[in-house]
Amino acid sequence: MLTIALCGQKGGAGKTTTATNLAAELVTRGSRVLLVDADPQGSASWWVAKAREAKQPAPELAHGDDSMHKRLPALADRFDVIVIDCPGRLSSVVRSALAVSDIAILPCGSGALDGWAFVETVKQVREAQRLRPKLQAFALVAHVDMRRAIGRSVHEVIKQAKIQVLDAELIDRAEYEEAPWGGQGVTTWAPSSQAAEEVRALVDEVLNLRGKQHGKKKAVG
Ligand SMILES: Nc1ncnc2c1ncn2[C@@H]1O[C@H](COP(=O)(O)OP(=O)(O)O)[C@@H](O)[C@H]1O
Ligand SMILES: [Mg+2]
Repeated sequence: MLTIALCGQKGGAGKTTTATNLAAELVTRGSRVLLVDADPQGSASWWVAKAREAKQPAPELAHGDDSMHKRLPALADRFDVIVIDCPGRLSSVVRSALAVSDIAILPCGSGALDGWAFVETVKQVREAQRLRPKLQAFALVAHVDMRRAIGRSVHEVIKQAKIQVLDAELIDRAEYEEAPWGGQGVTTWAPSSQAAEEVRALVDEVLNLRGKQHGKKKAVG
C-alpha cells in the first residue's frame, strides 16, 4: 500500500485538486483507492458525492482526523493507494497524516504569500521526517500561471525552501476547475486536454517514486 499526503498551509494552493485528480486517475487505472478527507471544509467529500451522483468511478471515502496514523495501516489489505487531503493549516491532523504517509506532496504557488507559507510547510514536513525517515517529500508546481513572470518564479520559491521538486506540474487551467462539477478528474472530463496530460504524468511519476530511496530524485538548493 502506498500512502500519499497532500499538504500545505496555504488555502487554494491546489491540495484538494491534486488529491482528487490523483485519486480519480488511479481508480481509472484499476487501483483500489481510498481518499481520506482530513479537511473540515469537506471539499474532497463533496467531490466524491458528486462522482457517485454522476455515476463516475470514484475512490472510497473516509474522514481523517488526528488518529489516522493509528487507523490507516490496518487497511493495507483493502487498498493499493491511500490519498490524504490535508487541511490548510498546521495541526495535529497534518502531523497524523505525515506520520502514516510514504510520500508528502506539497503544492506550491508563486506569490509572495505562497512562498512564505511554503517554507513553514516544509519545516513541518522536515520535523515529520525526523520521526519517519521513510517519508519522502516533494514540492509540486500547482495552480500556477506560467504566462506571468510571477508564475515562473515558483521555481525560485521551491529552491529557497530546499526541497526536491516533481517534474510533473499542474498549470493553471480551466479543466481543473470544471471537472469537479461532473464528479470527475481531468483525465476523464477532458482526456485530450493538457491538464489530463499533466495528471497522467504526475501519476506516472508518483508511482515511479515507490521504492526509490529518498534523495535520488533531482536535488535542488
Ligand atoms: N491547476 C489549477 N488550475 C486552475 N484552477 C485550479 C488549479 N488548482 C486548483 N484550482 C482551483 O483553485 C481553487 C483552490 O484549489 P484547491 O485544490 O481547493 O486548493 P486547497 O485544497 O489547497 O485549498 C479551486 O477553486 C480549484 O478549482
Ligand atoms: Mg482543500
